[in-house]
Amino acid sequence: MAQLWGGRFTGPTDEKVYAFNASIGFDKRMLRQDICGSIAHSAMLGKQGIISKEDASSIEAGLRQIYRDVLAGNLEITDKYEDIHSFCEAVLTERIGDAGKRLHTGRSRNDQVALDMRMYVRGEVCAADALLETLLKEILKVMKENRETFMPGFTHLQKAQPVTLAHHMGAYFEMFRRDRLRLADIYKRMNECPLGSGALAGTTYPLDREYTAEKLGFDRPTANSMDSVSDRDYLIEFLDALSIIMMHLSRSCEEIITWNTDEYRFVEIDDAFSTGSSIMPQKKNPDIAELVRGKTGRVYGALMSLLTTMKGLPLAYNKDMQEDKETAFDAMDTVCSCIDLYTGMLGSMRFNLETMEKSASGGFTNATDAADYLVGKGVPFRDAHGIVGRMVLECIAKKISIDDMSLEDLKALSPVIEEDFYTAVKISTCVEKRITKGAPGPAAMNDEIALCEEYLANAAVLTDPLNEILL
Ligand code: ARG
Repeated sequence: MAQLWGGRFTGPTDEKVYAFNASIGFDKRMLRQDICGSIAHSAMLGKQGIISKEDASSIEAGLRQIYRDVLAGNLEITDKYEDIHSFCEAVLTERIGDAGKRLHTGRSRNDQVALDMRMYVRGEVCAADALLETLLKEILKVMKENRETFMPGFTHLQKAQPVTLAHHMGAYFEMFRRDRLRLADIYKRMNECPLGSGALAGTTYPLDREYTAEKLGFDRPTANSMDSVSDRDYLIEFLDALSIIMMHLSRSCEEIITWNTDEYRFVEIDDAFSTGSSIMPQKKNPDIAELVRGKTGRVYGALMSLLTTMKGLPLAYNKDMQEDKETAFDAMDTVCSCIDLYTGMLGSMRFNLETMEKSASGGFTNATDAADYLVGKGVPFRDAHGIVGRMVLECIAKKISIDDMSLEDLKALSPVIEEDFYTAVKISTCVEKRITKGAPGPAAMNDEIALCEEYLANAAVLTDPLNEILL
């Protein structure tokens, strides 16, 4: 047991208590953040004359060495230490002596953990953004290649009107684009530095908070020291954004699972992204899509968990807040791997264009267009709706589609119908005539694709300022 706070105690900590209280098992992933934060803090202490310049530089060298040693496998982060902060300080002091003991001047683990967590989350916001950008590029590729791949658009999972695959995927482009906007927004709001807030009430040392904030890539220091150590809003916002990303992935996976069935056969998932059955030799299962859909639950869980943890906490720091990590880390890992796997699955999936188009031609997806044809011939829309309704009834009875009706039968329903009716209700015409902005018609779709391209060209991926700090 290596603790930072033994002085006030006369008896040892119970072993079970120690293990229950410790967070090293999961906060060790914040090593880089902890080292960078401590280097910035000690440099500031040196600059302000709070510790000597010599101490500041031996602290910096010592911390860099610790980082390198852990990465090289020469130094192990063991549960002998309570948390990552204790580990770094204890090893530093072991190695450089008294200077190491001066590192924590004007700092508390409360602002230290607030800083580390914020920097860790900032890095993950950037990682998620980069993965989403790759995914958007993949979606755009599918869109560009499938402007004329006709398929049924559904409402209530019933065939509704014909669209194109480009149009369908364009909907997902918008969802994931909004996800990126959300991340950029969270980044902007969270990029304030809590270091220098102390335990809760600031410190009596002349700290330069602007200096450390700038060194660590923050826009400014946080405004209120009590808020700084007790705020996890940014993490809740991130978990919310991650939950929405999962909801989007899950909806698409649900469609892919359906489209991959024998009944639909709209798509075939590549062997590399499918699995087999231990008993049924014929099976090729969409396990990856199902897992992405399934993992959505644990990400929502992380959001609910943190909201619940935070709801009853009085100001300022409470140990409950250590519970912000495990489920959140799990959510971040989960979402990143889900975006990555989904991108791979989409990129290698085959679309059965003919099956999709054939499906679009059935199920009366052109009924609205038949009504619009009548409107074009002067019939009021409500009457046209009724006429086409009867047309559909007749087709159902004869087991044919609207396109297969004879002109004679059509004329019996409405005398305004002429030969040009057949062109008007062809699937390609139905799509072509959808000219409103945002519709699947070729002109509108080309505009939409151009906007997607413009967006991707201009929306730079968020970058983690800590990557610039060479250790
Ligand atoms: N491991 C702790 C956490 O993650 C660090 C902060 C400890 N602060 C304290 N006052 N006990 O929250």
